[in-house]
Amino acid sequence: MYAKNDKITCMNWTLHPVHTKTNACSGLKFTSVSQTTPQQDFDASPGRWHSGHTMLYPLLRPFLFRLDPETAHFIALFALKAFVSGRPQPADPMLSVSLAGIDFPNPVGLAAGFDKDGEVAHLMNHFGCGFAELGTLTPLPQSGNPKPRLFRLAEDHAVINRMGFNNGGQADAIERLRHMPRAGRVIGVNIGANKDATDRIADYVTGVRQMAPFADYLTVNISSPNTPGLRALQGRGPLDELLGAVMAERGAHGPPVFLKVAPDLEPADIDDIAASVVDHKVDALIVSNTTISRPPLRSAHAEETGGLSGAPLHDLALQRLRDFRAALGASVPLIGVGGIASAEQAYARIRAGASLVQIYSAMIYEGPYLAARINTGLKALLQRDGFTNITQAIGIDAR
Ligand SMILES: Cc1cc2nc3c(=O)[nH]c(=O)nc-3n(C[C@H](O)[C@H](O)[C@H](O)COP(=O)(O)O)c2cc1C
Repeated sequence: MYAKNDKITCMNWTLHPVHTKTNACSGLKFTSVSQTTPQQDFDASPGRWHSGHTMLYPLLRPFLFRLDPETAHFIALFALKAFVSGRPQPADPMLSVSLAGIDFPNPVGLAAGFDKDGEVAHLMNHFGCGFAELGTLTPLPQSGNPKPRLFRLAEDHAVINRMGFNNGGQADAIERLRHMPRAGRVIGVNIGANKDATDRIADYVTGVRQMAPFADYLTVNISSPNTPGLRALQGRGPLDELLGAVMAERGAHGPPVFLKVAPDLEPADIDDIAASVVDHKVDALIVSNTTISRPPLRSAHAEETGGLSGAPLHDLALQRLRDFRAALGASVPLIGVGGIASAEQAYARIRAGASLVQIYSAMIYEGPYLAARINTGLKALLQRDGFTNITQAIGIDAR
């Protein structure tokens, strides 16, 4: 819907040379400017398969950034559906990670919020993503907050959003997921509560019941700053109640359950969440969502209400990951999110304790093949440090 889309929009131009179409919504003509086909992309070595596309993005970005972010996002989703055919991502022996019984072909995933309704998650492996998380999906459809509600902070390589869980609802997504190609893909489903729900915990239980059959993993998102009161569920009492209900509904045979937390936490909050996560045997912790804090920013949109993501979130999200690693040790796998824009930053997050990482905002600024570039860079960093698989590097700086 947003900046992220922008990047993906560029991708559209680089894909499927056989197609030349005009987007009815934008009037834009999506004609291939790349000499490679998607199949060639996959067959080439990771170091080369995205390089041609990568060079295009800097040319396209100025045009994309003239569009309203939500319009750009809409166009991006449209173009993805029209022109990209995702194929199963072959596992890279050096980058493959096993977590909660799931085999991830590489550790770089698409974070929640880009594909709210599960329209394109199965295509993101085309761009090097080892997994994709769709949602947040609420039981009932809801339109979210009034527009404008998404802002690019280009000078800061950041985004502020106050989308408010706009989504088409779980029933709608289920119909789409029934037909989504799944082979060789890892697709997580992020669930939340409707804004006007009288019983929010019941909404999460509904989400588990409805979405579990379609999810490789479920993410319980209690960390969006854009649904009033939602983050109060991170408190010890409410969190125990929520996780008890969610895990009971998931049962012995359901998918792994991950919990996604905010970065805006005090030390006591971190200890409480860690204790609750251990007590309820949550399968992994995603650290973190956007921040309501405002480090120094240069952009005119700096004071917009909402969650800040991208480069200014980097240090805070890394610190929260370290905090949770210190509180939990290696007992609960961590997934690092927030401001990751390079292989070096992804590697630092992994060395700090993350088994996987997710990206969103940086793709807006760096382009759609960022995941592929991070994977290529990760391999070089692992080789430099004498590791043969990325799991050997997880948490090495926290020991
Ligand atoms: C426009 C936008 C919408 C988002 N929507 C969701 C969402 O629905 N659910 C969620 O769990 N996180 C959502 N996020 C948060 C991201 O998943 C991620 O945690 C956050 O942006 C930090 O990563 P980044 O700095 O790489 O963007 C959203 C982020 C953005 C920028």
